Amino acid sequence: MRRHPKFGALAAIAAGLLLAASPAAQAGEKVWISLGDAAFAQLKKHAPASIAVASTASAQSEPVTAKSGRVAGKVASKVETIHLVEVDEDLLAALSGSVHEELNRCGGFMYHPNKQAGLANLQSHAIVANRPSRVTRPSYVIDEQATLTPLLAQMQSSNIGQTILDLSAFTNRYYKTAGGVSASSWLTQRWTNIAAGRSDVTVEQFSHPNWAQKSVILTIRGSDNAREVVVLGAHLDSINKNGTTETTIAPGADDDASGVASLTEILRVLMNANYKPRRTLKFMAYAAEEVGLRGSQEIAQNYASFGVNVVGVMQLDMTNYMGSPKDIYIYTDYTDGGQNDFVTRLIQTYLPTLQIGSDKCGYACSDHASWNAQGFATSMPFEAAFTQDNPFIHTANDTYANSGNQAEHSLKFARMGLAYAVELGTDGPGTAPPPDKVESFKGSLALNENKSFGPFKVKAGGSLKASTVGTGDVDVYVKIGAPASSGSYDCKSDGGSSTESCSVNVAANGDVYVQLIGYKASSYRLDVSYRPQ
Ligand code: BES
Ligand code: ZN
Repeated sequence: MRRHPKFGALAAIAAGLLLAASPAAQAGEKVWISLGDAAFAQLKKHAPASIAVASTASAQSEPVTAKSGRVAGKVASKVETIHLVEVDEDLLAALSGSVHEELNRCGGFMYHPNKQAGLANLQSHAIVANRPSRVTRPSYVIDEQATLTPLLAQMQSSNIGQTILDLSAFTNRYYKTAGGVSASSWLTQRWTNIAAGRSDVTVEQFSHPNWAQKSVILTIRGSDNAREVVVLGAHLDSINKNGTTETTIAPGADDDASGVASLTEILRVLMNANYKPRRTLKFMAYAAEEVGLRGSQEIAQNYASFGVNVVGVMQLDMTNYMGSPKDIYIYTDYTDGGQNDFVTRLIQTYLPTLQIGSDKCGYACSDHASWNAQGFATSMPFEAAFTQDNPFIHTANDTYANSGNQAEHSLKFARMGLAYAVELGTDGPGTAPPPDKVESFKGSLALNENKSFGPFKVKAGGSLKASTVGTGDVDVYVKIGAPASSGSYDCKSDGGSSTESCSVNVAANGDVYVQLIGYKASSYRLDVSYRPQ
């Protein structure tokens, strides 16, 4: 394990910010965040002593931004490195602000409840591109015209508009205010009413240990393929970028009452038609998206840890402000290419008059990224191109009126979501992934001794994971195409014990090398799992 200095300077700066910003706030708690190169550079302006305890090259690329203006902001992409850093929680608002001002974009960091969770996320970054190897693949055949044509005709923008108004009537839906809690109860009741009389439908609140707002999950149990699960999501919470307390106005009409309202109209039509899916369908309204995708992250991690076979995820975050010439923009980052192609064909088939565009956020901008980080196939169809989205979000002016007192734009997304739910919902089992090959090695290492393994011949598009357990302190290094060492690796895991894990994504058929180094005298078992060529 490499040691790092303490964060004394950071604490002092954070304390200064605290006094300036909000005299009532408590002394800052330490939290773990991961962020890309550009956002890390911003963090260092606030907290020069910040140190990345781990870094990994991301399979995602990040936009290289120009100096000013949202439209001028995005000019090119480069592969970026993601860093894991421990910071004072009170610094997050300032970081978010400077990312906004200087990089002309939002957020750009992901919150982790502890270091271990942060390290796990970093590893997932290496394997996020397209992962057909790890999940069950639906056939993506489009053949439910007979069911869908009448259902699509029943969808009404007026219902969507009313739900947007209802949700935006809460003072705010912030994750730790009374309004945020009430909005969760209100939606639970609303969805429960819609599902009345259906014994195969449940509505539950998913509790989060560290804040009051609960996520809401409605489940339609599948008839004969219930173990395969399809998720449609939106976020329940809202935020005001100037700070959100009990009395702060944050209607979040577009961001993201519009997404929740789109889901609610899909549910209304499905229940009204007494539709019974073969796969299990889950509708989720996530808590705490605006503070780092925290609700969806806990849910996606929970599902992954229980081995839930999630075959597809669609995120609807902002659907009602038509800021660009095209109707639906399919976002290509933190999403799955195969499923995105399917969603494109769904629109062409069922909504042939609509124009389809594509764009990307350039960072983990919404809850789809939480599922993507766990290896599931996601899509995020969005209301506009990235630089032409609703300018009122995160303010008191994100109102229904400022989306033109209409929900015609959202209706397109609700129809697309309905087609997605019914086409995936009405299928038998998809194609299971081929099992990974696992090789195990046992041995011991003296202090500073190293031992090399491989090469392991890994198939293009596959990943290799090297993990150890044992006594002492073993560090793991993995490199694609050449021997790994502490000075040359694509992935390292060097915590303070012999429990380590490190994954790499392999773009082309290739040789992968693993090296273990004893940071203390150790004994180990190394498991290497990969998709063989
Ligand atoms: N709906 C936004 C994301 C968004 C905004 C996408 C504009 C495309 C254009 C989402 O609710 C949000 O604000 N996300 C945060 C990031 C999150 C990790 C806190 C953001 O973008 O700052
Ligand atoms: Zn949002």
